[in-house]
Formats: sequence, C-alpha cells, structure tokens
Amino acid sequence: MSEHAARILVAVEEDRLRERLRFLLTDLGHQITALKDGELALRYLDEEAFDVLLLSLSLPPYGGARVLEVSRERHPGVGVLLLAEGGSTEQALRAIEAGAYDLLTPPLGIEKLRAALRRLLEQQKLERENIELHRRLRQRWGIHNLIGVSPAMQRMYSQVLQVAASRVSVLITGESGTGKELVARAIHEASDRARGPFIPVNCGAFSESLISDELFGHVRGAFTDASSDKPGVFEQADGGTLFLDEVAELALPVQAKLLRVLQDHRVQRLGSTSAVEVDLRLIAATNKDLGGLVAQAAFREDLYYRLRVVAIELPPLRQRPEDIPLLVDHFVKRAAAENGKRIRGFTRGVLEAMLAYQWPGNVRELENTIQSMVVLCTGDRLREEDLPAHLGPRAARPELELKVGMTLAEIEREAILKTLAFTGGNRKRAAEILGIGLRTLFRRLGEYGA
Ligand SMILES: Nc1ncnc2c1ncn2[C@@H]1O[C@H](COP(=O)(O)OP(=O)(O)OP(=O)(O)O)[C@@H](O)[C@H]1O
Ligand SMILES: [Mg+2]
Repeated sequence: MSEHAARILVAVEEDRLRERLRFLLTDLGHQITALKDGELALRYLDEEAFDVLLLSLSLPPYGGARVLEVSRERHPGVGVLLLAEGGSTEQALRAIEAGAYDLLTPPLGIEKLRAALRRLLEQQKLERENIELHRRLRQRWGIHNLIGVSPAMQRMYSQVLQVAASRVSVLITGESGTGKELVARAIHEASDRARGPFIPVNCGAFSESLISDELFGHVRGAFTDASSDKPGVFEQADGGTLFLDEVAELALPVQAKLLRVLQDHRVQRLGSTSAVEVDLRLIAATNKDLGGLVAQAAFREDLYYRLRVVAIELPPLRQRPEDIPLLVDHFVKRAAAENGKRIRGFTRGVLEAMLAYQWPGNVRELENTIQSMVVLCTGDRLREEDLPAHLGPRAARPELELKVGMTLAEIEREAILKTLAFTGGNRKRAAEILGIGLRTLFRRLGEYGA
C-alpha cells in the first residue's frame, strides 16, 4: 500500500463541498470525520487522534485561520490543509505563515487532493522518523557519559549493552586516550553489578612482586612486613567489576596465577592455606597488540583467550572525525561550567582546525586542549586565535628545500627529516603523514643515522 489510510478531519461549512470531499477522500481509502463548525472541530481534535485537518478559510464561527492557529499550537503533529474558497489572498498567505502545510485552490479534483495528501503524509512520516532517530541517538549518547555517533561508536554501544547482561570477560583495546576506562565503567554501570564495586587496577604501576600482592592479597606473617591480613583487589571486587588496566604489563608468573583464579573463581591470599570464592566480572584493557605479544610468547595464549571472550576495539579519534563536533561541543560546555565561564560555543574555524588535526592523544588530548582554550578564552566563543600553536592557523608547515640536482634519495631524506621535525619527533605520526609504514621510516632513519 503506497498511501496509508490517514485519519482526516474535514471542517467545511458548505454542504455540497463537504460531502464531495467526504466522498473523494473515502474513495482514496482514508477515514473521514466531517463537520461544519470551527469550535466543534477543535473539540474533536482535542479528543481524537487525527493525521490531517482539512479546513476551509471561511469556517464559522471565527474563520479557518483562527482554527488553524489553535490547532498548530495544541496539536502540532496534525498536518493542516487549507481550502482557499471564500477567503482573501491576504488571509490565505497569513494561513500559510501560521503553519498550514498547503493551500488548495478550486477547482478541487481528486488528483489535486491525492497529490497534496501524499506530500503531507510523506512529510509527516519523515518527521516521525527524524524524531525516532533523535530519540535513539539520545539514548545512545546516554550510555554512561560516552559520546559519539560514528558507526564504530554505535557498534561499541551495542556491544556494551550486550556484554553488560552477562558475566563474560571483556578485553578493551585502543590507543591511549580512546576511552578504554570510560567504556569499562559503562559496562559496569549498565550491568546488574552496578551496585557492586568497580575496582580499577593499573597493572603497569606495580613491580612484579607488588602486583601479585595487589591482586591476590596476603595473610599476616606471609612475609616479613606482613603485619596484618590484606585482601587483594579480586576480593575487593567481589560482587562487582575488576578492571585490569594495562594488562600487557603483567609478568608471566603473575599471568599464570591470574589464569588460575579465572578458571577456579577462587583466590588464595599469599600465605593462606585456603581459597575464597569470588564472583566478579573481569574487564582488561591494553593499548598494546596483545595478539602480537602472544606470538612473541610474552603473553600467555590461554590467558589471552580467557580475557578476550568479547573484544571491544576503540578506533583512534582520527578515524572517526564525525564524533569530533559532538565531543568538542560536550567538552566546551563542561569546561565552561567547571570554570564558571560564559562561553556560548566555538567558531567554524575552530572546528575545522580540530577536524584537520590528527589527535595522537585521542579524546584525552581533545579534552585537555579544549579545557585550556576555555580557561584562556577572553570572549564568549572559542575562536581560531585561541587555538594552541600546533593546531592554529599559525601552525604553518615548514617548507621542504628542494633543488634540481638532488637525487630522489636526497629528496626523500629531506621529506622524512622535515616531517619528523614537524611532528615533534613523533615517528608514528610522521609515518602516517608520509604514507609509509613505521618500519620503513625506522629503516630510513637508521640509514641516515638519525
Ligand atoms: N567517547 C567519549 N565520550 C566522552 N568522553 C570521552 C570519550 N572517550 C574518552 N573520553 C574522555 O577522554 C579521557 C580519556 O579516556 P580514558 O581514560 O577512558 O582513555 P584510555 O583509553 O583509558 O586511555 P589510556 O590508555 O591513556 O589509559 C577521559 O577523560 C574520558 O572521560
Ligand atoms: Mg586508561
């Protein structure tokens, strides 16, 4: 069915015209209520659901234009078509301004009616879809502080919601500053363990012996300084979520112990003879290529598969530029509120510079950049002049010095060294700009002795 049946309220005083409309519209497959009084029409609109109001300009007691105004105000979802019989052009124009969707002039044949209705109903469908889209987007942005509309982020949101419902282990990978910890917290918050603890541990921040103690705890007397019992984070996270950040930093012996705990769901404190049962979800994160470490035997393969029952990969910000406007807007508002500044927004130039930049530090770098811009900003909008030098219009790129007579190898050397200077020594970024692999860059630098 190309044209769905609409519920139409026809409000026309003149009997012949009203009956003709009822006949034509019923013939087109719509449901019609027809009446000849404006006040009655408004009462019907308040009480029943209509898609369309078909109204004559001359409608008593106070004219179609007035009914139109009230209807638009009280029932903006009802589309209004005006019949231009019996009214002045001036009135008709005002009616259009007041929100009538279309003005139908005599003679009124079935084709004219059909076309006007089709346009109106299509428009209404689009509006409904648009509202639904926005509702869904809001719902999506709403996942615990996570912002982003890129397909990668949307995929991630549904993964978060899926894993939240179960107890599976999750491995989150992504460059520094891509939001790994935020995603871990989102999973915890969306899960039925949200009332339980969320315990983050940075595995890279402890030496090998200390991380064991941190994870599994000890009993009094287990070693010289152990003057009291100490539960490890596994016990602390009981009933909640344990977040092992920088999991690639764990030494192999600790990995073995960790694997055992994951298999048995029990932990034994150092020096204790018994193990206690723990019920928790483990989320691990790393910015390293854990699969690569497995291949080099630097990470246990069995543990790797235990951790990555579900793998969530966060792409770098430069690969999802469509998220940048939303993030900028969000961070500007937040920083302004935190710093008591009245900043209304940012210029287009600022956004363009942000879109052009590569963000090696990802969302964290974006957040910090905006925070300092907001703090230093003296106006009511962030402008290009407020951008830090490496992002701003003055971030002129150095020129290459090329002269005929140079060999290709010399030209290449010039390009590589100048690009590297431009990135402040960041080799990864330089390789990206040059469009070559990191290995090639390293090899060339080796050849130059740089
Ligand atoms: N999608 C996002 N929406 C809103 N804020 C974000 C988003 N992603 C990251 N952030 C913010 O960016 C900062 C860095 O995020 P987070 O600490 O989660 O990154 P990370 O991947 O754990 O980084 P690292 O590897 O350096 O530890 C945080 O302040 C976080 O709130
Ligand atoms: Mg982190």
